[in-house]
Amino acid sequence: MGKIIAVANQKGGVGKTTTAINLAASLAAFEYKTLLVDADPQANATSGLGFDPDTITSSIYECMVDDVKVEDIILQSPNIAYLDLIPSHIDLVGAEVEMITVPNREEKMREALRPLKERYDFIIIDCSPSLGLITVNSLTAADSVVIPVQCEYFALEGLGKLLNTIKIIQSRLNMDLAIEGILLTMYDVRLRLSNQVVEEVKTHFQQMVFETIIPRNVKLSESPSFGIPALLHDAESKGALSYLNLAREIAEKNSVALEK
Ligand SMILES: Nc1ncnc2c1ncn2[C@@H]1O[C@H](COP(=O)(O)OP(=O)(O)O)[C@@H](O)[C@H]1O
Ligand SMILES: [Mg+2]
Repeated sequence: MGKIIAVANQKGGVGKTTTAINLAASLAAFEYKTLLVDADPQANATSGLGFDPDTITSSIYECMVDDVKVEDIILQSPNIAYLDLIPSHIDLVGAEVEMITVPNREEKMREALRPLKERYDFIIIDCSPSLGLITVNSLTAADSVVIPVQCEYFALEGLGKLLNTIKIIQSRLNMDLAIEGILLTMYDVRLRLSNQVVEEVKTHFQQMVFETIIPRNVKLSESPSFGIPALLHDAESKGALSYLNLAREIAEKNSVALEK
């Protein structure tokens, strides 16, 4: 049975999409069958893997509210074996409003993804910067959540609200939702502030924090413009290597044998 991991934080620009793309690509590089689900109408994960969101007609949303079969909208990464994508497009914006009258509206994504758990080792969901219905659906579908936290001012701002939302989902919709880990992103070794944030987050959250810290690295910010993960842009870059480390950490934590 595959594991579904949501990458979530309602704060924008903290590295969710960068993490979702590069974690998924790294797991695939270790030959885990991996599916990336773009659950953000901004479709950054879709374009980051080289697809043009303007040409996409069906997203996870159509699988949630219409009768579109999830198997029919899966795209294969053109350049990474073991990596597939469920793309997004702008219509996902309307989903929240349209779904208000749908029964069990928080559980639609879980239902849509259920048949895929057998086919993949990991399913990574890139959430939008909100705690709205699509994100609630993502957290209800997920087995665990990765929370990227940017090593910047106000790093912890909003985290309380996110953790509270997770608690509510655990009590009402998804008892088994676990926190996979808090991921420090955009770390700059030269900045005192970055180091302070690392200290603060580690003091606060202790063993919940991943050992891997993602550095600020230009290869990570450049690679989406080429439609490829950092691994293909510059495999030796600190950015690419740090996401490989994260993938290894997650795989080991889940006791999935890396040597296959
Ligand atoms: N480790 C990093 N080093 C350098 N730039 C990064 C890094 N992580 C993210 N970025 C850049 O920061 C911006 C926001 O990141 P993104 O992953 O899109 O955040 P989110 O999905 O949370 O909004 C993007 O331009 C991205 O390329
Ligand atoms: Mg994003």
